[in-house]
Amino acid sequence: MESRREAPSPSKGVISSCFVFRAVKGIVLHGGAGTRLRPLTHTGPKQLIPIANKPVSQYGVEDMIACGIREIAFVLGDVHPEKVKEYYGDGSRFEAKFAFVTQGEPLGIAHAVSLCEDFIGDSAFIVYLGDNLIKGGVKKYVDEFLASGLDAMILLTAVRNPSQFGVARVAEDGRLLELQEKPKNPPSNLALTGIYLFRPAIFDAIRRLQPSWRNELEITDAIQTLLESGNKVDYRKVDGWWKDTGTPEDILDSNRLVLDGITPKIEGTLEEIGSIQGRVALGRGSRISKGAVVRGPCIIGSDTTIGSGVYIGPYTSIGNHVSFSRGEIEDSIVMDNCRIEIGNRITSSIIGQHSSIITGKATSTGRLSLTVGENCVIRL
Ligand code: TTP
Repeated sequence: MESRREAPSPSKGVISSCFVFRAVKGIVLHGGAGTRLRPLTHTGPKQLIPIANKPVSQYGVEDMIACGIREIAFVLGDVHPEKVKEYYGDGSRFEAKFAFVTQGEPLGIAHAVSLCEDFIGDSAFIVYLGDNLIKGGVKKYVDEFLASGLDAMILLTAVRNPSQFGVARVAEDGRLLELQEKPKNPPSNLALTGIYLFRPAIFDAIRRLQPSWRNELEITDAIQTLLESGNKVDYRKVDGWWKDTGTPEDILDSNRLVLDGITPKIEGTLEEIGSIQGRVALGRGSRISKGAVVRGPCIIGSDTTIGSGVYIGPYTSIGNHVSFSRGEIEDSIVMDNCRIEIGNRITSSIIGQHSSIITGKATSTGRLSLTVGENCVIRL
């Protein structure tokens, strides 16, 4: 909760930021086209793709709830928005209140945020891109933001390819000078992560924007407008890892990072104690048959069967109701209700829900590396 702040002295151009703030609210974006994740995004939004058996966006939602945020708006795009509503519901499962705001066509992150103005009212708020993950959550940033008089706080991280991100120019004394969206000649390697803290002044800044060359209202430009208007904008550098899960490689990287921190928990049945090595989470109703080997870190959901002779290698997430009766796998994601019966090893793969991969004895293809959409059948 916040108390009343001093009204800033009116200076030319500063976007009004004098409000009585109430509870902090959250916005999680579930729009975007997700073209880089096809075919997985033909049947659902990328923010619901599971990482260690939990939708990517749920990590952000849980981070917000851990900060005491109880009102969260989900901005929905045009890729099966009903699946987001169906999964999250009214929020009671999370002891929170969820609202849904329709964006439809992806007209930009700033556009998506602007649609939440009524929902936000005069609160401070956090925006989480639903396909972003950050180690350790956001509580310390939210606490610092609330204790500050800032209109915006961004989280920065050093990246190898800054031209693909919004990039910050920072003075030698650490002051934030400028933000540029996907610059050809980046002024630094400090990229904006997809987590932003705002006060309602951002809505006026968005109103002043023109669409960018890609016809989107860019959130980087909105924050730059705040800076140019003399509003208070600052940054923090994130100290753990941060991931944007826009591509299959990013999804598998994130799966590895999350599984690295997994807590072992066996709720299912092990026919043979020695079949598990390292940190493994096994869900209720699941069974690991005698003669199978499961080497962690990995997670297996509920009501899944791992057959005799099957090898599940490190960094693998297997969902609920999966039948894995033959073969080997590592560094992969198998979603719910799949059937795997192979003579090969699957590696660095993502298999969508309700799909089957069936091969004869070891084929000449050797290892299989696949990105398979929902409801597919692959027989080799
Ligand atoms: P992007 O990954 O930049 O957009 P995209 O989903 O269109 O990706 P692709 O290039 O693969 O087609 O979006 C970043 C995040 O912001 C992601 O969580 C989607 C969300 N988003 C919206 O909610 N609305 C929008 O208008 C845009 C552009 C993105």
